[in-house]
Amino acid sequence: MDESHARKNLYVETYGCQMNDYDSQRIRTALGMNVVEDPRHADVVIINTCAIREKADQKAFSSVGRFKHLKRRNPDLIIGMGGCVAQLYGRKLLESNPHLDLVFGTRNIPELPRLISLLERERIVETSFDVEDIFGVEPFHEPGKVTGFVSVQSGCNKKCTYCVVPAVRGEEVNRPIEEILRESENLVEKGAREITLIGQTVNSWKHGGYKFGDVLRKIAGIEGLMRIRFTTSYPRDMTSKLIDAMSDTGKVCRHIHLPVQSGSNRILQAMKRTYTREWYLDTIARLRGAIPDIALSTDIIVGFPGETERDFNETMELLREVEFDGIFSFKFSPRPGTPAAGLGGSIPSDVAGRRLKELQDFQREITYAKNRSRVGCVEEVLVEGPSKNGDHMVRGRTTHNRIVNFPATTDIMGKVVSVKITEGYHNSLLGELIETI
Ligand code: 5AD
Repeated sequence: MDESHARKNLYVETYGCQMNDYDSQRIRTALGMNVVEDPRHADVVIINTCAIREKADQKAFSSVGRFKHLKRRNPDLIIGMGGCVAQLYGRKLLESNPHLDLVFGTRNIPELPRLISLLERERIVETSFDVEDIFGVEPFHEPGKVTGFVSVQSGCNKKCTYCVVPAVRGEEVNRPIEEILRESENLVEKGAREITLIGQTVNSWKHGGYKFGDVLRKIAGIEGLMRIRFTTSYPRDMTSKLIDAMSDTGKVCRHIHLPVQSGSNRILQAMKRTYTREWYLDTIARLRGAIPDIALSTDIIVGFPGETERDFNETMELLREVEFDGIFSFKFSPRPGTPAAGLGGSIPSDVAGRRLKELQDFQREITYAKNRSRVGCVEEVLVEGPSKNGDHMVRGRTTHNRIVNFPATTDIMGKVVSVKITEGYHNSLLGELIETI
């Protein structure tokens, strides 16, 4: 770390997924600067961008515009853009944004100090995938923060036709198990009680003869760690061995996020998801067979090119059949360079919008009913911090990943406590503390 960097102020703005949150904390470590909450006090502004859908990448462009006036006031201000939009558009971003000094790709975070030192001479673009230590530089972890992420995998080898990720994050590279273990131990030492292992298709992880289930078993051995989550899983890689590891390992939370994308085999095939509706439903049955109360969440895309009313109804039917605890749903968004962007049969935006609303309204009721059904139950809640719902309230999550707010003081942060659920809302539960375990 450069001594002069430590005296500078850094402001990081993050868009998109958990991987981006993780990368932003790595940016913080890599630069070793003092982090500020207000960009007006910054010497360096970094925008960490997301390109998964068009809306996300437009946000990246407008955010550069937002920092323009700061640069006018302070010509020494450095503005850099990283993440998936930076990777996708590279040099073009410098051409269209005269205020931007630096564009760096998804694998270039460890090089940031060097890139910034070069800025005195010229504006810089560095988006090479050809880097030696992809996982070099651990993320910054706020001391005492109860939850943390550990990346186990970079990039993606799947060929989903709608998805820009393989283009912007490169081929799948799996991190050695020893490194995953070491970073996890460090997190627990800094106060983390729950670790979420992250990767684009996290359950496809394999390295040195180990499979993902082995990672779960190893991490579970860390003393002081109470809970393990992982995201995002690819349905085809949900092996029985992995399901066994989940059910054997008491620390693994009883929740899985398993994106199905569509309930129509025709659309799944056009998306190149490599499984059928029946195969997916069988996987859900296997999961529920091994872990009966497991909570399930998924991702859905509506309005994929060629999607008929019938295809859409099959997705609705799948939601009715599975009864997910929650879903994330999106209108199809054509992404540059992906096979689906060139497909005919695009669905008019108003039709896709109507389908999305129908789907979301339907799921909202399922989620609400499930949340209400918890009333009267006693849940184990890991307390994460103060609640946004008022003073003298704290917030935590159940093993099923439901948010619970209840009256208590923050000295129980980081503890797993028993909470009796008194109300179920659309997005959270309300409860009362019974005992500190
Ligand atoms: N359009 C709409 N949604 C998309 N997703 C990925 N690519 C696209 C796209 N081009 C959704 C998928 C994925 C989630 C992270 O984002 O549902 O699982």
